[in-house]
Amino acid sequence: MEEISLCIMTRELCQALYKDWQNDPAIYMDRDNFKPYHYNEAVVDRYYESKQSPSRVLFAIIKDSKPIGELQLKKIDWERKECTLSIHLQNDSVKGHGYGTAAEKLALSYAFNTLGMEAVNADTITKNTRSQHVLEKVGFKYIEERDGFKYYRSVC
Ligand SMILES: CC(C)(COP(=O)(O)OP(=O)(O)OC[C@H]1O[C@@H](n2cnc3c(N)ncnc32)[C@H](O)[C@@H]1OP(=O)(O)O)[C@@H](O)C(=O)NCCC(=O)NCCS
Repeated sequence: MEEISLCIMTRELCQALYKDWQNDPAIYMDRDNFKPYHYNEAVVDRYYESKQSPSRVLFAIIKDSKPIGELQLKKIDWERKECTLSIHLQNDSVKGHGYGTAAEKLALSYAFNTLGMEAVNADTITKNTRSQHVLEKVGFKYIEERDGFKYYRSVC
């Protein structure tokens, strides 16, 4: 597998990421809600701004100096020392090469060692078995299934 890294998302990285973005049907509970993605610079700017918060770290997943996905540590609870991981790679051309697995491992290390978290949560819709497999591969433990979602947790 080629090397990837995580870097704090900038406005420029966010624009570059979403220029070649594809929505993935795997994250839609009701596949009828799936719509192909259409790039719009102003919408991406607003998206980027909406993610700036003390309770969230938004990363770009970088390969060969280019963004190939985004990963978030969100719902950061500084008192309880826990947060929630979410990830979405840019398009099908970068899926299935091990980059998601590598990015999640780096994010767990960042959450525990840099942010001082004691637990990281994650959830996927029940049908998203690829995401569940990757979460388990990097050490998340399955907690429960509720309302169409499977919940996972990784403890420091
Ligand atoms: C989920 C995602 C982050 C995984 O990243 P990735 O780089 O594609 O995954 P990897 O190549 O690191 O690993 C994929 C693993 O899943 C396995 N896999 C592939 N399709 C699968 C399926 N339908 N069911 C179960 N496992 C599957 C692969 O065999 C591989 O496991 P292995 O290494 O043990 O052989 C990425 O595919 C993605 O962004 N998907 C769309 C958005 C999404 O689903 N995000 C998660 C929402 S909670």
